Amino acid sequence: MSVTRVPLLPTQVSPPQFALSERAPHEFAGVECWALPVLPAGEADSGVAAPGAQEAAQSLGLDLLGALEASRATGKAGEVTTVPANADGVRLVLLIGVGEQRPQDFRRAGAAVARAVKDRASVVSTIAALDPGTALEPFVVGAMLGSFGFHWRSNGPKERPVGRIVLAGLPAGAANNSRLDLDRAVALGGAGWRSRMLCTVPSNLKTPAWLAEQAVELAGSAGLGVRIWDERELAADGFGGLVGVGQASASPPRLIQLDYTPAKSLRTGKAAPRHVVLVGKGITFDTGGLDIKPGEGMLTMKRDMTGGAVVLATMAALADVGCPVRVTGLVAAAENAISGNSMRPGDVLVHYGGRTSEVNNTDAEGRLVLADALAYAVHRLDPDALVDVATLTGAMKVALGLQTGGLFANDDALAGALSAAGTAAGEPVWRFPLVAEYEDKLASKVADADNAAGGAGAITAALFLQHFTGTVPWAHLDLASVGDSPTERFEWTTGPSGFGARLLLNWLGSPTPLEGVR
Ligand code: BES
Ligand code: MN
Ligand code: ZN
Repeated sequence: MSVTRVPLLPTQVSPPQFALSERAPHEFAGVECWALPVLPAGEADSGVAAPGAQEAAQSLGLDLLGALEASRATGKAGEVTTVPANADGVRLVLLIGVGEQRPQDFRRAGAAVARAVKDRASVVSTIAALDPGTALEPFVVGAMLGSFGFHWRSNGPKERPVGRIVLAGLPAGAANNSRLDLDRAVALGGAGWRSRMLCTVPSNLKTPAWLAEQAVELAGSAGLGVRIWDERELAADGFGGLVGVGQASASPPRLIQLDYTPAKSLRTGKAAPRHVVLVGKGITFDTGGLDIKPGEGMLTMKRDMTGGAVVLATMAALADVGCPVRVTGLVAAAENAISGNSMRPGDVLVHYGGRTSEVNNTDAEGRLVLADALAYAVHRLDPDALVDVATLTGAMKVALGLQTGGLFANDDALAGALSAAGTAAGEPVWRFPLVAEYEDKLASKVADADNAAGGAGAITAALFLQHFTGTVPWAHLDLASVGDSPTERFEWTTGPSGFGARLLLNWLGSPTPLEGVR
């Protein structure tokens, strides 16, 4: 079978460029937008505070404090008060609420600035200067992700991200620290951007082979090892889950492996660093298979490879966040399509390593491809910890709503580290139990497990996966609840979210990601 594709060129827009400066906004000639912070009123004083607004007001001949009062600004994070200006090339002053000045408040402030200056050439802001150690990273991440866009409009994008964001008013002498904070922020924001971009690409372009090409390309620029299995190699090596799920599609499945080794251990050659394996669900489109999804439920299924995108984006940024451990990324990529060669209800698949599954619902395909990759990791890669990332069960949406992801783990230290990393990065997850009593539900009449155990959908899916993790400390992120943002909300743009890359990078970029893990 062959498919003819009309060329589809992604016309990607780029995130803004960032610059650091000790100077105040009024010392910049020709920067058309200024973004100044607004703090909520303290208990004692009567109104909001706006550091730097007095000086800015003077140099522009504007009444900025009056504008805040007139618009009843409260200073809550992400609130925008817009004041038109017309002096020295300055056209717009934005007064941006920074709330309680927590990292999440600065992310919101950054995203608010990004939205307010779309289609502008540049903006200068003193918001990060309030407290550079706390504020700079989240402000930049928020500004990058709030700028996100991607389009195939024949007349060009509806709107473009601001070209340049100058972080001004930074304390003299702190340049080195700020530079490091900025590099890290751009790595985190860039990973979020990349995973969101991969998830947004439509599935007529985004085949498993296309995803593998993206992996090869990023491996080249990030200096990672890379190996790709095509459909023949997958069959020859016994990846029965990937082969079964992918067999109906005109775009055959792939397994992608990326390898990162920390630079430090290469130089010193000391004791081998510990090894983390990440596994991502890479279903490039999920029709449900013969157990076909209703149209409504299929609308967002181009991003059923969110887990895979998160793994790719994380792998690409590990060196930038100074990850101290060895990391292998696996992406199990297949299209869950429908054809005369579809996997049928009742079919039995033999996974890598020999465990078998009875396919009682072809729409429970994610666990079938993850099983192969997890088993391969356990048999071949000798991991110290295993983390899989997947938009696995719709049940997660019911349990958590659309702003929190699900976490399962058989190791408390690993669960704690991932959960803390998610909260700090703005990608919160909530831990669920691996209820041993529900094992019965996995029972199959003919195979080692049923892929579509009834009841407790997210937990039984996790229990299904656990059988493939051997004795390795393991965590499972079920991100079906957070794969899409239904609205423009803070750093989230409407559509695929790419949720998870910031969490993983925050974790793997910490000094001791595996501390306390058995
Ligand atoms: N990709 C879906 C899960 C999903 C649903 C992600 C909604 C994002 C939004 C997954 O492959 C699936 O279809 N799961 C089934 C499993 C069931 C058949 C046991 C589900 O959750 O309904
Ligand atoms: Mn499915
Ligand atoms: Zn799926």
